[in-house]
Amino acid sequence: MSLRQRLAGGLLALAACSTLGATEVEKKNYRLYCMGCHQLDGAGSPVNGIPAMRDQVGHFLRAPGGRAYLSQVPGTLNTPLGDKDTAALLNWVLVNIGRGSLPADFTPYSADEVARYRASVPEDVPGLRARLMDYLERQERGR
Ligand code: HEC
Repeated sequence: MSLRQRLAGGLLALAACSTLGATEVEKKNYRLYCMGCHQLDGAGSPVNGIPAMRDQVGHFLRAPGGRAYLSQVPGTLNTPLGDKDTAALLNWVLVNIGRGSLPADFTPYSADEVARYRASVPEDVPGLRARLMDYLERQERGR
């Protein structure tokens, strides 16, 4: 292969990379930063304290404070990703992994919103989760 051909091949590969769809980026970020604990399909490992997100995680959006919570758990909080990429990743998780639980009126997270939640993380995040679960369970039982 001539140098010219190799160069052309390299340029083609570069072009292919830069046209990766947005969803591909989120998928890649999920694999890099979340899958180790949450598993590819979001099943998690409940016996080891990793909650199942598949068709579940969207329910948090129905509880007061739940929207902030999803953006304040350590996994979402501590990625090396900026607010914009984190918002996109969270939206991807909700729409794909959480599909069956997503409220019909779901509004995607914006970068500004994620920045705000990140700047105001409550001290007791596990306590917040327990309160949200309690709220959702009571709602489900119709009380
Ligand atoms: C080191 C393991 C680990 C990694 C990595 C991780 N998480 Fe989590 N995640 C957890 C645990 C454990 C919880 C349960 C809440 C808690 O105890 O903090 C959780 C809870 C969540 C929740 C709330 C769901 C619920 O049922 O409470 C969301 C949303 C979430 N993680 C998203 C992510 C995203 C997005 C990433 C990747 C950027 C990620 N997590 C990476 C362990 C992890």
